[in-house]
Amino acid sequence: MSSVQSILVTGAAGFIGFHLSQKLLNAGYQVFGLDNLNDYYDQRLKMSRLDILKSNKNFSFHQLDLTDRNAINSLFSEHQFPYVVNLAAQAGVRYSLTNPHAYLESNLHGFLNILEACRHNNTKHLVYASSSSVYGANKKMPFSVHHNVDHPISLYAASKKSNELMAHTYSALYNLPTTGLRFFTVYGPYGRPDMALFLFTKAILENKPIDVFNNGKMRRDFTYVDDIVESIVRLVPRPSKPNAEWSGMTPDPATSFAPYRVFNIGNNKPVELLRFIEVIEEKLGKKAVKNLLPLQDGDVPETFADVEDLRLEVDFKPSTPIEEGIDKFISWYIKYYNITV
Ligand SMILES: NC(=O)c1ccc[n+]([C@@H]2O[C@H](COP(=O)([O-])OP(=O)(O)OC[C@H]3O[C@@H](n4cnc5c(N)ncnc54)[C@H](O)[C@@H]3O)[C@@H](O)[C@H]2O)c1
Repeated sequence: MSSVQSILVTGAAGFIGFHLSQKLLNAGYQVFGLDNLNDYYDQRLKMSRLDILKSNKNFSFHQLDLTDRNAINSLFSEHQFPYVVNLAAQAGVRYSLTNPHAYLESNLHGFLNILEACRHNNTKHLVYASSSSVYGANKKMPFSVHHNVDHPISLYAASKKSNELMAHTYSALYNLPTTGLRFFTVYGPYGRPDMALFLFTKAILENKPIDVFNNGKMRRDFTYVDDIVESIVRLVPRPSKPNAEWSGMTPDPATSFAPYRVFNIGNNKPVELLRFIEVIEEKLGKKAVKNLLPLQDGDVPETFADVEDLRLEVDFKPSTPIEEGIDKFISWYIKYYNITV
């Protein structure tokens, strides 16, 4: 890169935001990290990630809430952000059944503040996290960005689909280039304590039973975090452009007459949950005690990403096998939590 480019990463103390910030710093960006450091899960993990990021002189941290409109506006008036990656959100499908309001606040109100700030400050490209959960009740596999996604089955999914609709509106009204990324079950070191790999590893090591939903017959397109951030770093300097072939007569959901698009970022190789658990058991050298349960409300039985559009755009697609990714996670977990095995 010829001159240092500034980028705002929201949710920088989060799992994906941490890995993305590291990769952007290595690529020569000046990274402004934003996070409210909320207590949805262990804040010590967020602080550990931040400590690592703060050791780089090209990283600065801003503890802000996306819903604080004045604070967001001040940040954008104090610094010029040609690029913005919005990862801050209330994540998690199951939590949205019991805490719906958190999703409207961070994911809708918060995202609107980001859209407005980008619009008024000439941001060249806004990249934001959507989710594979937007495919909801769809059954046609693999899930394609060209399929219609109007049947969410959790408020989390509805909030992410809403983000795509809001982004389209800003791309259309104000010519703001936006790219939405539908991540598929992301895992890796410094991963989220509310997600399967972390929960299973912890429980197995503590000789506690693990909850296995849909009797383990669930299939997930588990995607290693390095593959996610590699895709994002390649997409950031490539703002979306209007699709000249787009027609309102046969509207393609993935693109638009406006500078708007969405991509899937998934491994393109779904794995049955029971196989996923087997790999964890092999790596830990210990068997899990499985508590077999039915499919949970809000959960979909299978996810499988079609990533052809991503590959064509950035000449890359995720490919880390779960055996390799789980191994890296467990090595990190054992070291980080100082566990003797
Ligand atoms: N991890 C996955 O498998 C996955 C899958 C699909 C989509 N996503 C999406 O990717 C993004 C990043 O996910 P993650 O796994 O890193 O989650 P995470 O919870 O680890 O990171 C999100 C971060 O955002 C912060 N945050 C939340 N609300 C905020 C607010 N109102 N203001 C400021 N900061 C706030 C949190 O403190 C947290 O550090 C999220 O938008 C999530 O919905 C994740």
